[in-house]
Amino acid sequence: MGGKPIRTGSNPGVSIEDLDPAKSRGEILDLWNSRLGRDFPLDERLLMQNLSRETNRTRCLGAWQGKSLVGFILCKQHTKRLGSEETKSEEGNLSAIVVSPALGRTGIGTALLSRAEADLSSLGVRRLHLGEDTYHFFPGAPADGSEAKALEGFLASRGFEPGALCHDMIGDLGGIDLESLAPKDEGWDGITVGPYGKGDRAALSAFLSRTFPGRWYQDTMEALDAGMRPKDLILMKDGSTVIGFARIYDGESPVLGPGVYWRALMGGSPGGLGPIGVDEAYRGRGLGLRILHESLMALKNRGAAVTVIDWTTHLGFYGKMGFGIWKNYRHYTKDLTQGTRT
Ligand SMILES: CC(C)(COP(=O)(O)OP(=O)(O)OC[C@H]1O[C@@H](n2cnc3c(N)ncnc32)[C@H](O)[C@@H]1OP(=O)(O)O)[C@@H](O)C(=O)NCCC(=O)NCCS
Repeated sequence: MGGKPIRTGSNPGVSIEDLDPAKSRGEILDLWNSRLGRDFPLDERLLMQNLSRETNRTRCLGAWQGKSLVGFILCKQHTKRLGSEETKSEEGNLSAIVVSPALGRTGIGTALLSRAEADLSSLGVRRLHLGEDTYHFFPGAPADGSEAKALEGFLASRGFEPGALCHDMIGDLGGIDLESLAPKDEGWDGITVGPYGKGDRAALSAFLSRTFPGRWYQDTMEALDAGMRPKDLILMKDGSTVIGFARIYDGESPVLGPGVYWRALMGGSPGGLGPIGVDEAYRGRGLGLRILHESLMALKNRGAAVTVIDWTTHLGFYGKMGFGIWKNYRHYTKDLTQGTRT
């Protein structure tokens, strides 16, 4: 995305330019929080974590009115392999777009998106997903909250197709009687649950590449290399073989997971959980509920209260531990081969 600044149609005073999001982090945080701060309060730590850890091709554009940033868009192309999956460089993500509320519906969002789409298309991207990127902020378009209607109207007008809903779920471990929700032993001889230990790396890697070979493998191994604390990774084992995992977080976790992204809304002792998964060969024996329960107990024992389980459709499963829906997101995709609409 290089070249000369362009002018947006109905905003002759606004120019669109490449943006270095790390350099302009202060302006991005101000703009984001002026529009989305009520529902998605962004802080520098999360912004910089998600920008600096990403190794997929990332593009950012800013809309400037004089020295004021009045809009930005962050997009990505899947240039990196996720575990053993093929590189999907025809897929891209619209990670975030925000326009100043004072300049809404003056064509700035359209100008940002059009430039980003043209750039991604020229790099070979054929399909754009709203959110869902690695080091994402959103698993889809926020479907409730004060800005949902504007985003929905914008996406519809720009040719995005809506899909299914997914959810963040919430529960207060201070109020849920977790002890009484412990699942019944369904014949679990030899199966243990506990935090990751230094000697577990090879067994964890073998489990993830066997069972969750794509994003969960990649994200988890990258988080280990980025300094994830052993206590933020719960493993279930049969003997010495890893057969399940869950990632958990609190406000002090060195690698922030999506469950604690919006912790400014979650009180003084936030907790987060996800992803969580069990080897297919061990499913149907209550072991998913067991690792979920033990992971929530671990969070509770370290003082976590309001806890969020992110990006899920398994309402009944987490409902068994007293969790309910907090936020809804809708999947959206756009086929870029049909020509960009301006
Ligand atoms: C979505 C957003 C980027 C749109 O930016 P914008 O500059 O106002 O959009 P545009 O002026 O280019 O609007 C283009 C079209 O989108 C639709 N649209 C935009 N805002 C709308 C609104 N508030 N209600 C309904 N439709 C809307 C309209 O069809 C509009 O065309 P029109 O004004 O000629 O009818 C802006 O509203 C925003 O920042 N919202 C919050 C974004 C957000 O939630 N980001 C997080 C997830 S990515």
